[in-house]
Amino acid sequence: MAGRIPQYFIDDLLARVNIIDVVDGRVERLKRTGKNYSGLCPFHKEKSPSFSVSPEKQFYYCFGCGAGGNAIGFLMEYDRLDFPVAVEELARLVGMEVPRENNSPQQAQREKQLKDLYGILDEAARFYQQQLTQHPQRDTAINYLKGRGLSGQAAKAFGIGYAPPGWDNLLQALGADKQRTDALEQAGMLIHNEERNSHYDRFRERIMFPIRDMRGRVIAFGGRVLGDEKPKYLNSPETETFHKGRELYGLYEARQTNAQLKRLLIVEGYMDVVGLAQHGIHYAVATLGTATSAQHLERLFKVVPEVVFCFDGDEAGRKAAGRALETTLPVIRDGQEARFLFLPEGEDPDSLVRTEGRDAFQIRIDQSLPLSEYFFRSQTEQADLESMDGRARFSTRALPLIRAMQPSLLQQMMLERICEITGLSLEQINSVINLHQATTDAAVPEQPLPPVQQAPQGTRSAGPHSGRDAELPARRPRPRSQTGNLDLCDKAISCLLHFPQLAASIAPASELQGMAERNADMLIALVDYLQTTPNASLGTLVIDWQEDPQRSAWLMMLNEIAHNTPLTDGAERELQDAIKRLLRERRPEMELDALLKKNRQSPLTQDEKQRLTQLLASRQN
Ligand code: UTP
Ligand code: MN
Repeated sequence: MAGRIPQYFIDDLLARVNIIDVVDGRVERLKRTGKNYSGLCPFHKEKSPSFSVSPEKQFYYCFGCGAGGNAIGFLMEYDRLDFPVAVEELARLVGMEVPRENNSPQQAQREKQLKDLYGILDEAARFYQQQLTQHPQRDTAINYLKGRGLSGQAAKAFGIGYAPPGWDNLLQALGADKQRTDALEQAGMLIHNEERNSHYDRFRERIMFPIRDMRGRVIAFGGRVLGDEKPKYLNSPETETFHKGRELYGLYEARQTNAQLKRLLIVEGYMDVVGLAQHGIHYAVATLGTATSAQHLERLFKVVPEVVFCFDGDEAGRKAAGRALETTLPVIRDGQEARFLFLPEGEDPDSLVRTEGRDAFQIRIDQSLPLSEYFFRSQTEQADLESMDGRARFSTRALPLIRAMQPSLLQQMMLERICEITGLSLEQINSVINLHQATTDAAVPEQPLPPVQQAPQGTRSAGPHSGRDAELPARRPRPRSQTGNLDLCDKAISCLLHFPQLAASIAPASELQGMAERNADMLIALVDYLQTTPNASLGTLVIDWQEDPQRSAWLMMLNEIAHNTPLTDGAERELQDAIKRLLRERRPEMELDALLKKNRQSPLTQDEKQRLTQLLASRQN
């Protein structure tokens, strides 16, 4: 009998886990589209992505099959796990211990396996450390490290070790029996020679950097050659304990030195992290030979409110900075800060901190460019702001990036800055954005809306004892279409739901006011959403609308319409036809009311003003 998992723990866990880390690797073609991620749904067969995940709301939803829920629900469904096992899995990912009394046999078995892995990795780390002080050829390693100015203390703090030359040092030392050899292999420390059915050490004659998780357990290694051979570094392969794309070297050590970290510096290499720490900058982390990903950042921002990217001052560094900027923009929120630090050409953090010392380096960090500063500097550098044309080009490039940001003060400020630079009003800027969208939004998935009755919201915070049924939305077969006399609004809505990209081909939402049909408001809101939201899909629609009571009610109606409205081949023509007829059949009285009402809430467009004047004039006749 498994013990109870307290609710506070589940809440805490969900606050720490990033759902993106969980779906990553389990969802094909997962990529960020604006604020959300989308990919191929792992729960039903599909060719174009209808699965979307919101890092902000920490849940996923598939509008193809209706699957949806939080990180726990995802794991349960994907790995077919029971609730407590899924919780254990997630806890492991973020290095938390689940408070429980007893375990099920399978659970106990799996825990034992993992324990063996962590155990053998820890033994390996100790072995390498020991070799650094005891192996007959240790001097070559020690001299190398000394030559690079590394202190014994820093080496110790990072658990740096030495894999001596030879094919089976580790195997001999740790692989006493089959079980231990298997564990070594599973941990990525041995390579299996299929032909001879034998094993040999993966890491040979290298300086060894143990990579630790947030809890301090060794999960992998990086190994550096002592000379200039290639490849310079060899890293552990992906294993049960190691997922390269999301780990950050040095994060554990940084947190050890200071539990109240305020900022983290993102550098490139192992040696940069170690060198900086040795000189008193204990808050550097490195990605493991990959660019900083949104997942990395989301993880870092869970630990500190400020990250500083550190780049070489050369062309490659500037390129990397550009990529980091684009990765950061959609992630960053109010209360968080990102800065950009460029080092003099030819220097890396390790070399620089050695020559100029901690204080000078610290000053560089303090003076690094805030994200917005770097953004405008890099965007305007390439633009000719003197000419009208140059300013227009600048805004078409800059605006989509800003639109992809979380709604925030920073976003607002940046928009205002664009207005200043271009001399355009916010309204004009918005029309630039819309135009840009209409021409670039090609990849909107074409699926009908899912059953939203079981919206993911209800499944988000389900506790441990609400059971599986409550966790996962049951898939219901779609109701069969009933052919009938549809009103035009429903027809148009259905077309848009099936082919959201068609929204770009019809009149702007603001020109649809005053239609008499019963679902006109809903149609206008839908058109408006699809026309103004970057990368809009039905997935984002569901996620965005369910926050608002009025709109979440609409979601259900949309769902019904999508299911009950048969579509014929020429959806685009059908849609345009429906819209044309709707506009023709507008009742002047209603249109007038709608325009007057709108005018009280927000300024009318030029066209709307004209129409209003017309309507008012005709009423007097
Ligand atoms: P660097 O070449 O900047 O590494 O590569 P470094 O840590 O400064 O190494 P030193 O100073 O030459 O000893 C940055 C990072 O890229 C990954 C490693 O994670 C490295 O720390 N890398 C680099 C590899 O994985 N393999 C390689 O062959 C090279
Ligand atoms: Mn280096």
